[in-house]
Amino acid sequence: MPLVTSAEMFKKAYNGGYAIGAFNVNNMEIVQGITEACREEKAPVILQVSKGARAYANHTYLVKLVEAAVIECPEIPVVLHLDHGPDFETCKACIDGGFTSVMIDASSKPFAENIEITKKVVEYAHDHGVVVEAELGSLAGVEDEVKVSAEDSSYTRPEEVQEFVEKTGCDSLAIAIGTSHGAYKFTAEQCTRNEKGILVPPPLRFDILEEVSKRLPGFPIVLHGSSSVPQEYVKMVNENGGKMPDAVGIPEEQLRKAATLSVCKINIDSDLRLAMTGTIRQFFSEHPDKFDPREYLKPARANIKELVKHKLVDVLGCAGKA
Ligand code: G3H
Ligand code: 13P
Ligand code: ZN
Repeated sequence: MPLVTSAEMFKKAYNGGYAIGAFNVNNMEIVQGITEACREEKAPVILQVSKGARAYANHTYLVKLVEAAVIECPEIPVVLHLDHGPDFETCKACIDGGFTSVMIDASSKPFAENIEITKKVVEYAHDHGVVVEAELGSLAGVEDEVKVSAEDSSYTRPEEVQEFVEKTGCDSLAIAIGTSHGAYKFTAEQCTRNEKGILVPPPLRFDILEEVSKRLPGFPIVLHGSSSVPQEYVKMVNENGGKMPDAVGIPEEQLRKAATLSVCKINIDSDLRLAMTGTIRQFFSEHPDKFDPREYLKPARANIKELVKHKLVDVLGCAGKA
């Protein structure tokens, strides 16, 4: 099956009470780990590419890697999506260059300007059969070298969403309800500690999600910054020369709950980075004499695949939905 847009996927996900996984891709092993997991679990998938990924790997290489995955996994629907498109020009380059979905992230701009930029992207994208994700509210954390502090982040204001969607014509909306980008989502001060001394983050603002959904019935909502920062991989990193103290993510039960509501797309990047880095660090600790990239990338790819399978089955609920 050729690359698809997310329109049909989101309709089914909304009605079926599950979410589609949107995983960031930067190289071949990550593309393979994700898509092999989705093929085996019969799950639809969104492969997303950030501005940083395009700068690192080059637009053409990434498109061709994703096209290769589509050939290898013909039975699953795959969307190629631009993550956090910073401006019209980047969105246009991706629309012209084979993507089936783009995000325009003008969430740091004033409301009226966000509407204006998003609308321009929507008009161009829809003329070319491409769908558009937009964002209202802003997440804390690091994305594409832009660091947003917890104080500068802001929850989505439910009273703005209807006007925004009507005026822009966007196809899905990313909202801020307390998720955050990266592996350090919360400071120790923002968390409590459980009886094992593990940091427990503040709960997501499901009240905001509910208010948004009431105002936009049937409309697909997106959650960014939704890695759970698996503690086994943080431990693997730290036990093998790394230093990631107090890395903490979004509890998986909360993401599972969001997926049963109006959230149709859940973005996961940091968890895959952690699995890859932890595995490679452990490999080198155990095999200091090895230097063949195929030898250390193979277990890294296998662990990405296992982690993605777990997300599809236990968190997103989209296994078997292809
Ligand atoms: O939200 C950002 C994604 O995790 C992509 O990260 O900008 O480092 O490629 P990146
Ligand atoms: P994480 O950093 O939580 O994986 O979020 C990724 C993301 O939102 C990509 O847009
Ligand atoms: Zn994001």
